[in-house]
Amino acid sequence: MNVLDFCKRKRARQNISMVTCYDFWSAQVLNETDIDCLLVGDSLAMVMHGFKSTVHATVDLMALHTRAVRRGAPDKFVVADMPFLCVRKGMAPAMEAVGQLMQAGSNAVKIEGEAGQLDIMAHVVESGVPVMGHLGLTPQFVEAFGGHKVQGRSEGQASNILESAKRLEDAGCFALVLECVPAALGKLISEQLGIPTIGIGAGAGTDGQVLVLQDMLGMNPSFKPRFLRHYASGHQVLTEAVNGFHEDTTSGIFPSREESYA
Ligand code: KIV
Repeated sequence: MNVLDFCKRKRARQNISMVTCYDFWSAQVLNETDIDCLLVGDSLAMVMHGFKSTVHATVDLMALHTRAVRRGAPDKFVVADMPFLCVRKGMAPAMEAVGQLMQAGSNAVKIEGEAGQLDIMAHVVESGVPVMGHLGLTPQFVEAFGGHKVQGRSEGQASNILESAKRLEDAGCFALVLECVPAALGKLISEQLGIPTIGIGAGAGTDGQVLVLQDMLGMNPSFKPRFLRHYASGHQVLTEAVNGFHEDTTSGIFPSREESYA
């Protein structure tokens, strides 16, 4: 998959799959799967570091995780998130951050929002860096939204998101993540754009889907928002494995003679 394939896939009506990936070992696993694209999402601040929101991700942290993912998944198209306020500090710091993430091994950057930052996004595109947009529930705006809430329910909000989506396409974005918007709005935006939309909680009418890897693996069984499907019982598998090791160790049946050096 390269950046040109995203639009080709939309034209061919073949949905695009993307999952988050934050570290070397899961990147190695994902490199062997059919998944189209990996996202080093700033959600790593929450999933990997236990923060309450993504505003704690920094450029250095994103670059560190991006380097690990690239080492583990040399064959995949990797998108790295531009973290909180990165594009709001002016052109020079924004470009510095883009440089760090691209040199860390990403193929593209993802930037949340549109209003007040279109010129910087267009400049990144013109500099030869593919940009993925992100609208709807943009988690970096969580404080302004008053929580992680579905966006675009009112007619006014929906039309603002649609207009922003069109401007992002005009600015040169190659794809657009739509997060937590009503399914009808996800479908409408997808129909109106030439670039593919990749939805999370945006219904079945988008041109692809993205999920956080740990969420789809069921690592936290009590985290089950409406849009999430668990593809494994990861928490249970891990717990049983570790308890099995503990039991074998404490009862003295691990290691066996075959697992020991002569
Ligand atoms: O950071 C992230 O994981 C994301 C996805 C939810 C799209 O931006």
